[in-house]
Amino acid sequence: MRVAAIQFSPFFKEIDKNFDYIYNKSKEVEADLICFPELSLSGYFFLTREELLPFTIDFRSEIIARIQEISTSLNKIILFGFPEKSNGKIFNSCAILFPEKKFSCVYRKTHLFYRERFVFDPGDTGFFVVDFSPMNINLGTMICYDWRFPEAARALALQGADIIACPSNLVTQVWHLAIPARAIENKVYVIVANRVGTETNGGETLIFNGKSGIWHYYGSLIAGAAEETEKIIIAEVFPEETRDKYIDKFNNIFTDRRPEMYRQIII
Ligand code: ACM
Repeated sequence: MRVAAIQFSPFFKEIDKNFDYIYNKSKEVEADLICFPELSLSGYFFLTREELLPFTIDFRSEIIARIQEISTSLNKIILFGFPEKSNGKIFNSCAILFPEKKFSCVYRKTHLFYRERFVFDPGDTGFFVVDFSPMNINLGTMICYDWRFPEAARALALQGADIIACPSNLVTQVWHLAIPARAIENKVYVIVANRVGTETNGGETLIFNGKSGIWHYYGSLIAGAAEETEKIIIAEVFPEETRDKYIDKFNNIFTDRRPEMYRQIII
């Protein structure tokens, strides 16, 4: 299957413009799975809940339904970040839209980064995998800063993920060193759709550093974007190849685990 990451610079607080961009690219890009960055529907750098509230969106809203229509009519899995309003809470969420709507769902970011703690509620979905059998793919999702916690990718891989999609708004560089490790240690593909551009709010500027990538399950970068420019990257991946966790005749990276030796990490 062909997977794509869309690196672009969302317009801050301009939902209509970002919607048009996501809608059009979802239609045009020839891939079975298309991943857009974190909060790509709204922009990122909100400082207070009051500032963000007018831009929050219900997962059942018309705007999501219209992208669902693209997913269904063109048989594409589409992921994009949006500020989700749900039962009085606000989550930094990723819409995961499958061609068969009953599979569509949201992942709510678990680990909040920097000033996000003043704006969002901590995600409550946990890490989960969708077994989308019509495309023979087990898809797991995490968002941006979740990468810093190896437990996130591990939890997804242990639930059977073949591919981990990671919509992002990364402002550091070190993640590029860590993502290949997440791929290797779990034998999964990893797709990071990062954004570019800058946002300034309250006198502070964030610079988003691109370098979106699609990593092979042995850790090599199979498609990558530059640091500053908008770019669509596409790669051919083979999800079923990730399922055999043997790395040689004797060693299986899942059954060789000895959780009783690392109980500390779940406290
Ligand atoms: C991040 O979690 N947006 C770095």
